[in-house]
Amino acid sequence: MAPFAHARVNLDAITSNARLLRELAGGTPLMGVVKADGYGHGMLPAARALVAGGATWLGTAFIKEALELRRAGITVPVMSWIIPPGEPVGEAIEADIDLGVSDRAVLDEVIDQARRRGGVARVQLKADSGLNRGGVARADWEPVVAAAALAEEEGILKVTGVWSHFACADEPGHPSIRAQLDVFHEALEIVEKAGLRPEVRHIANSAALLTLPEARFDLVRGGIASYGLCPIPGFDVPGLRPAMTLASKVALTKRVPAGSGVSYGHRYVTESETSLALVPLGYADGVPRAATNKGPVLIGGRRRIIAGTVCMDQFVVDIENDTVAAGEYAVLFGDPGELTDAPTAEDWAEVLDTIPYEIVTRIGARVPREYVGGP
Ligand SMILES: Cc1ncc(COP(=O)(O)O)c(C=O)c1O
Repeated sequence: MAPFAHARVNLDAITSNARLLRELAGGTPLMGVVKADGYGHGMLPAARALVAGGATWLGTAFIKEALELRRAGITVPVMSWIIPPGEPVGEAIEADIDLGVSDRAVLDEVIDQARRRGGVARVQLKADSGLNRGGVARADWEPVVAAAALAEEEGILKVTGVWSHFACADEPGHPSIRAQLDVFHEALEIVEKAGLRPEVRHIANSAALLTLPEARFDLVRGGIASYGLCPIPGFDVPGLRPAMTLASKVALTKRVPAGSGVSYGHRYVTESETSLALVPLGYADGVPRAATNKGPVLIGGRRRIIAGTVCMDQFVVDIENDTVAAGEYAVLFGDPGELTDAPTAEDWAEVLDTIPYEIVTRIGARVPREYVGGP
């Protein structure tokens, strides 16, 4: 039996987005970012769809994600960039995973593991150019680069990349963008002076890829845009196709009189006699409780707003006098190019004062992913 709710993922949309991003980046090689279960779309199908669209690198936050890609037989270069203590660094070296190194302790651990295992670790040094999150601080950059160069001479490590990450690329023109590019250029000069010749230098995420040609360098890292969502509110990217549709069958409908309080707390009260539709998706499934009286839903061919409190497993929509039968689908978000009037994950982000990343990555495990298309 088909599930009553699903997050349907159009893999052809992901493939087509990868092609589009490559084109928009003037042919610069693309790293498809598949961390966090492919931004909630399913890491392995998303990775294959991205590679089919021309992504020549894949990026994950954690080594375990990268190892899963390798176990699934994916052989393209993969990079992982958050390496807390105790991570399987040795396994990553053996699996040819590029390690994004953000500080001296991690570099030392990588060197130690490479010596013990007799392998050559692939290391991508991360300069903190001003995000002040991960990355080697400016004051520590020279000694870290020198230590990496020494290990490269010893033959246990190869500095394959140098990279950084923007703080405000989703606000084109923000002064920090230029400042970060300057710091990154300086970091690259230091690397060159140390005699290192990395294969790839990269700093662009989706927002920079879309707006900042001078940030392309040798590789662009496309995350959210690969899934068809734009990181810059109100910025139109013609041809980008949202890959995920979140929908559920309506469980029941009922007629209620004027003045009926709806759902926990009676935060919605009907103005006149009306019909209510119950949609069996709730905050346990990733529909934020903050969408109470705010979240848009396409139901009965019309766009409406959730009526009252989002519960753990369900919410209600006031459908007035429309005829909607139990079993018909309510669509929370999808691709308006395919389904007229469908809200988008960006619409949800806007009304909830968040970003579309949070909308798609938080869909709960109870919602089955269904795949259409794909390589
Ligand atoms: C280091 C790094 N690079 C690239 C990305 C991809 O960013 P976006 O999804 O905005 O393209 C992320 C995502 O947060 C990231 O952490």
